[in-house]
Amino acid sequence: MANSMSFLILLCLVFAPFCLCHKKMGSYLYPQFYDYSCPQAQEIVKSILANAVAKEPRIAASLLRLHFHDCFVKGCDASILLDGNGGIISEKGSNPNRNSARGFEVIDEIKSALEKECPHTVSCADILSIAARDSTVLTGGPNWEVPLGRRDSLGASLSGSNNNIPAPNNTFQTILTKFKLQGLDIVDLVALSGSHTIGNSRCTSFRQRLYNQNGNGKPDFTLDQYYAAELRNNCPKSGGDQNLFYLDYVTPTKFDNNYFKNLLAYKGLLSSDEILLTKNEESAELVKLYAERNDIFFDQFAKSMIKMGNISPLTGSRGQIRTNCRVINT
Ligand code: HEM
Repeated sequence: MANSMSFLILLCLVFAPFCLCHKKMGSYLYPQFYDYSCPQAQEIVKSILANAVAKEPRIAASLLRLHFHDCFVKGCDASILLDGNGGIISEKGSNPNRNSARGFEVIDEIKSALEKECPHTVSCADILSIAARDSTVLTGGPNWEVPLGRRDSLGASLSGSNNNIPAPNNTFQTILTKFKLQGLDIVDLVALSGSHTIGNSRCTSFRQRLYNQNGNGKPDFTLDQYYAAELRNNCPKSGGDQNLFYLDYVTPTKFDNNYFKNLLAYKGLLSSDEILLTKNEESAELVKLYAERNDIFFDQFAKSMIKMGNISPLTGSRGQIRTNCRVINT
């Protein structure tokens, strides 16, 4: 069975554009997708991204997050990149994305370089996936081969963006359910939350933990009280909504397992971070494991990113290759 499967995959690789096995095997992606049609694709993405990250380190975090927010809404189909116009209501205005999702200009820059090199070939959805991997590597995280061949959506879903993407004050069960609805499990949840080893959060995303976590006017008791006092300096009870804080205050721009070590010290910034330790035994064990073993965290992170990148891609002749990631081709 395994042998005949690998033979089928080999056949598909050789005859990819014509092959019926797309249908037989269901949609699937593979790293060599652009090897003939645009061999420079990955180099182009990496070099533009490296420049952007050198200019502003946070861009790596922002692009990693864009892939997540794309994949959880109608699959990894670049729906998040569409601007609102004509019939499209952009996902950029959703609760998780408004005043928060960023990095769109870098994607534009990558897309226009790719359109020059190989017109109408590389999808915006694949750019997001490669950029997420490169962002991880550039900040010191694990490397992996990115399965490719996604195509771009013909629409967006504002409601999908509001409903599917977990909120920082959701309960553990709600967050796990939102992951399970995407085919991801508790191991993926904990490993992928490790993305919060880089990047920033706004005050508004965790304020309630500082002042009124359970409606009793008291701070979250699972947040270190000295750390909380420090956070209150720049995240007042009212105002300062957009003030920025590091998700991992120890090594804010380095991809490492300090995020998990912070959780063990009750210095996770978001409620959704700390509850991985405090609300579920299985996830708590994983937090401890990843805090102890960076190598195991890195391995699992790469696996879970590939799994997330496989959420309902458009393949074959479904969707399109957008020329401009912000608009559908006319
Ligand atoms: C488990 C559920 C998750 C919740 C509730 C959550 C929530 C959040 C929130 C509230 C922020 C700060 C946004 C702001 O205040 O502007 C944030 C930032 C971020 N998230 Fe998550 N997140 C989750 C999972 C993930 C996953 C799976 C990834 C990637 C695979 C990810 C990557 C990031 C990154 C890199 C940032 C920093 C972005 C930047 O600095 O621009 N998050 N997240």
